[in-house]
Amino acid sequence: MAISSTIDIPVISEVPKHVAIIMDGNGRWAAKRFLPRTAGHARGVQSVRAAVETCGKMGVRYLTLFAFSSENWRRPADEVSLLMRLFVQALEREVSRLLDQGVRLRVIGDLSAFEPKLQELIVQAQAKTAHNDQLHLTIAANYGGRWDILQAMKKMMLAHPEYGADPGRIDESALSEHLSMSWAPEPDLFIRTGGEQRVSNFLIWQLAYTELFFSDCYWPDFSAEELKNAFEWYRHRERRFGRTSAQLQSHTTS
Ligand code: FPP
Repeated sequence: MAISSTIDIPVISEVPKHVAIIMDGNGRWAAKRFLPRTAGHARGVQSVRAAVETCGKMGVRYLTLFAFSSENWRRPADEVSLLMRLFVQALEREVSRLLDQGVRLRVIGDLSAFEPKLQELIVQAQAKTAHNDQLHLTIAANYGGRWDILQAMKKMMLAHPEYGADPGRIDESALSEHLSMSWAPEPDLFIRTGGEQRVSNFLIWQLAYTELFFSDCYWPDFSAEELKNAFEWYRHRERRFGRTSAQLQSHTTS
């Protein structure tokens, strides 16, 4: 099981092991060019490709992308349907590229709300790439951090009805093993493009000690170079996990 950052200090490497990204600014990228918002999402797919390729080359092991939040259903109907079409197209067209790059694909979120064809394509793409281990690409779709914690809580209570009478037995790991990404380490680096500085209900449990990087760049403009700049910024962070610098030094030398 992955190390909990609130309990122990995970192994820290120069390149983040797990990168989580909120791909924001597609709509504004398009508006700046007098294009419909949907053109920004279509262009954003290119940045997704660049991010996957760069992470693979740089040795990142887990890349998690927030593609559609539980709250995004509130957007105009044509925008929601274009996003669904983009997901379908990406799953149909990109799987062979993912296979070539050794990428394992997973989709997390409440997928029951998606049309059956999309659900089926997700199941197929996950199965086709299941043997890959170089880069674990996770797409969060109809995902919300609070939804994730609640679904984990429900699964935990079903698995352990005895906790109802003795809640003192519930610890972090009892719950976290039921989270959607229980198989992955917590993100080392969170990136949000588009100039906003908030977490927007993304992986809220797992971001407890993640380094937060905010870029003014709109997602369609977020190139491999921009991503490498974020990695360079990360390399200079001192990650203390609630401890002092001196404690950290003795931890790394012991
Ligand atoms: C946020 O920008 C972006 C989204 C809600 C969708 C992200 C989707 C993609 C990048 C394309 C498809 C992805 C995959 C994985 C195939 P926004 O619309 O909120 O931009 P704004 O803040 O400028 O309005």
